[in-house]
Amino acid sequence: MEPLKSARKVDLQDSGSDLSEQIKAATQETHVRAENTDLMTSFQKGQITRTQYKVLLCSLYEIYTALEEALDRNSSHPAVAPIYFPQELDRTEALERDLEFFLGSQWRSKVIVPAATHRYAQRLREIGKVKPELLVAHAYTRYLGDLSGGQVLGKLAQKAMELEGKDGLAFFSFPGVSSANRFKQLYRSRMNSIELSEEQRREVLQEAVDAFNFNIQVFDDLQKMLSVTSESAEKPKGTSRSTPFPPPSSVQLTVGLCVGLLTVGIGLYNF
Ligand code: HEM
Repeated sequence: MEPLKSARKVDLQDSGSDLSEQIKAATQETHVRAENTDLMTSFQKGQITRTQYKVLLCSLYEIYTALEEALDRNSSHPAVAPIYFPQELDRTEALERDLEFFLGSQWRSKVIVPAATHRYAQRLREIGKVKPELLVAHAYTRYLGDLSGGQVLGKLAQKAMELEGKDGLAFFSFPGVSSANRFKQLYRSRMNSIELSEEQRREVLQEAVDAFNFNIQVFDDLQKMLSVTSESAEKPKGTSRSTPFPPPSSVQLTVGLCVGLLTVGIGLYNF
């Protein structure tokens, strides 16, 4: 099956003055790129493997922990309060349940994430501290995505991994949202009510493009990790568990990346 092509057709010039329309238009091109990453293509073809899914869950866990901590910390900030919906949207607990299902009760010691995930989470923590008005860009990118294409992806994942029932799929389920479409409308109107200067609005739009790019880099890094695993499948089993990637050293970036990939590869071999 061919990967689904984006059905979104929005021209930035016709996007009006609403933040929700402008952000959709600004991220249209990066959305298509995100859809066409290898990892998302596997999803759309119904070919996602358990290993791919498990490493994705690990990264999502780090990302949502950082996002939701930043949102909680700024819940009364004027640019965050209108789009603060922890009951309806929070994913951290759902991801914890899914990770426990796939990795067992000791899942915390098995979480493995690539450098791109650390960079994304670091950016979320940074803007949570210094520019909370940019959080709307990240919340939009993840939550509205989860409520849109994410719903189809959940069904495809269930089928591809032959999961019975809902175990392992809590991430895709939003029990506090009865209608995803109505909720998205509410969310957009709340986004549009945020007061931003022209400069801040430009920054939010740029941050949304960056948010998509962070996701693309995470997906690409995960695929790289997985390809190292399949390459190292011939090697004897070494370390039974790897720790998350250390941040790359500025001096030994290349060597560090190779060693990091190999370490994670060995860790994943036992995942
Ligand atoms: C297999 C990959 C994906 C597919 C098939 C997909 C598909 C879709 C579809 C069909 C919509 C609804 C479009 C509309 O209502 O106009 C949508 C919306 C959205 N998607 Fe995706 N998507 C994918 C990946 C992603 C990723 C990786 C992200 C971000 C990390 C993302 C973020 C969004 C956002 C933010 C929206 C809301 C757009 C808006 O209404 O403003 N999507 N997606």
